Amino acid sequence: VKRLLVVGGSSRIAREFAVLGIRGGWAVTLAGRNLGEMQICARDLQIRAGAEAVGAVELDLEAPVGGDALERVFSGSSDCCGLFVAAGLMPAEARMARDPVVFRQAAATNYLGPASLVEQFLPHAAKRDGSFASCLTSVAGDRGRPGNFRYGSTKAALSTYLQGLRCASPPGILIQDIKLGPVDTPMNSGNTRAPMMILPREAARQIWSGISRKQSKIYVPRRWRLIMAVIRVLPDAAVRALRL
Ligand SMILES: NC(=O)c1ccc[n+]([C@@H]2O[C@H](COP(=O)([O-])OP(=O)(O)OC[C@H]3O[C@@H](n4cnc5c(N)ncnc54)[C@H](OP(=O)(O)O)[C@@H]3O)[C@@H](O)[C@H]2O)c1
Repeated sequence: VKRLLVVGGSSRIAREFAVLGIRGGWAVTLAGRNLGEMQICARDLQIRAGAEAVGAVELDLEAPVGGDALERVFSGSSDCCGLFVAAGLMPAEARMARDPVVFRQAAATNYLGPASLVEQFLPHAAKRDGSFASCLTSVAGDRGRPGNFRYGSTKAALSTYLQGLRCASPPGILIQDIKLGPVDTPMNSGNTRAPMMILPREAARQIWSGISRKQSKIYVPRRWRLIMAVIRVLPDAAVRALRL
């Protein structure tokens, strides 16, 4: 059996992704910082997707990543050869500007935690064909903009890490960067400016499609690729004037 570890198991995108994974024949373990919540999400998944069993482990990306529970998932009886990192934090920019502890939390959760988790996963994944490590980054990482450059910079760091790792790893493993546009989840509640919002289920579907095509970097939805190509080349003065 191939096992998929889904990190940030309470995220709606993660849960929709896990449902599709189970339907595609994967055994799933959910990981998150609240074990009780992971167990509830696991039970919910079992019912929704008709899985025999869904695992749950505690994992806090802000703390040094590792420990016995994670090691058991990686070296258990089923081959853990799929990793999906949905976990992330998006505190208000003004809060991060005021409070360096909050900024540091976001950087640890969005960049250092996922990167060190991928490092630990890779030696196990290398044993099996079709292995993948897929991480949710953001279109916010493509260009520093006044409204979200602190959050965006943490996602840009993860994208750069994944890009380098891809070239340094054996070609058989898919190291995937998902550049996500706005998705209708609690992270976006109250964000009335977010354009072209899609549903978590649609995001999950497009991500699986990218995995099956072995695409190492995808924009979800795809139109963000073109939009960000334009935004990336705008001069600073235009970004300031347009208040992007
Ligand atoms: N929604 C969007 O528009 C959007 C756009 C671009 C990128 N993204 C990215 O997509 C991912 C999923 O976002 P979402 O919209 O589903 O947000 P969400 O509902 O807020 O989910 C975020 C997940 O991250 C987990 N998490 C936070 N800190 C953690 C930590 N220290 N250790 C482990 N898990 C932690 C949360 O767990 P708890 O339940 O414990 O809080 C939750 O499961 C994030 O990486 C986000 O940055 C989202």
